[in-house]
Amino acid sequence: MSIYLGVETSCDETAAAVVRDGRSVVSSCLLSQFELHAGFGGVVPEYAARRHLENINSVIAAALNEADLTPDRLSGVACTTGPGLVGGLLVGVCAAKAIAWSFNLPLIAVDHLLAHVCASYIDSDLEPPFIALLVSGGHTQIVYFKDYRQAELLGETLDDAAGEAFDKVGRLIGLPYPGGPALDLQAANGCAKRFSFPRARVPGYDFSFSGLKTAVFTAIEKLDKPWPVADLAASFQDAVVAVLVKKTLLAERETGAGKIVVAGGVAANSQLRADFQAQSPVPVYFPRTELCTDNAAMVAAAAHFCGERQDLSLSVYSRRC
Ligand code: KG4
Ligand code: ZN
Repeated sequence: MSIYLGVETSCDETAAAVVRDGRSVVSSCLLSQFELHAGFGGVVPEYAARRHLENINSVIAAALNEADLTPDRLSGVACTTGPGLVGGLLVGVCAAKAIAWSFNLPLIAVDHLLAHVCASYIDSDLEPPFIALLVSGGHTQIVYFKDYRQAELLGETLDDAAGEAFDKVGRLIGLPYPGGPALDLQAANGCAKRFSFPRARVPGYDFSFSGLKTAVFTAIEKLDKPWPVADLAASFQDAVVAVLVKKTLLAERETGAGKIVVAGGVAANSQLRADFQAQSPVPVYFPRTELCTDNAAMVAAAAHFCGERQDLSLSVYSRRC
């Protein structure tokens, strides 16, 4: 049996969680900085780091209290070490290191992208092999997980990440920050056929979303106000989701992996979830919606499944030639 404390501070959520055996969340505490950055239309790294510093101790204490645990009963302390905003990462690493050192526990450095994928192990019976579609604010990748610690990057975005495209287009059409969830809600009431936005034709398993963003911009320039925001949102979302689903299904077919995992903030998108379930011939695993965006339970799960030495980093992992 393992019981890990996870710490996550790579962007704008200060989070700590306790997870048993990598599958069961005992406690999960999270303080979002959403309102701090909303006025800027994006995360301000220095403000984020300072807010993490103010909150990290109380968030960790709350996670341990909620789990009714003292640190000496932990198997180890896991923290995100990258990729992410360096000031925030430093706060999380220092806090996790201090607890690990004080209680003589192992300290596990966790790759943030790998942690997003490991969120899918929580509350499920998922085991490798599988194809993972990792769609977050900073990354869009298709990765072939042959085993818990053996992964091969098949493709990634050549420009904007999927979440970044959602956020930028959300802003363009006048939706509040962050654009992803707001655009998802608008799209539910819109007509996806109203605008025919391009599906970028990039070879292999790579993606490109910057042309799509420009296409939305060009479309609204020709429109009188008020813009048909719901139709713009639905048409944009449809273009993104179609490409993500198509390439992921292709990767599964080519590798014969037998299962698909969709993870990262954009995995919370309702159309992405529905279209995968409708179109995939193999089982598709999504983390619970609240575990798609940044959280610390996924960090603790990664510590359990990927071991104490995490040399598997999806951000630097070598590509298939
Ligand atoms: O994984 P995450 O929390 O942070 C990063 O590691 O980047 O992902 C955040 C991204 C943001 O771009 C946000 O707009 C997007 O995930 N997102 C969504 C939805 N919920 C969050 N995008 C589309 N539909 C959603 N429902
Ligand atoms: Zn993330």
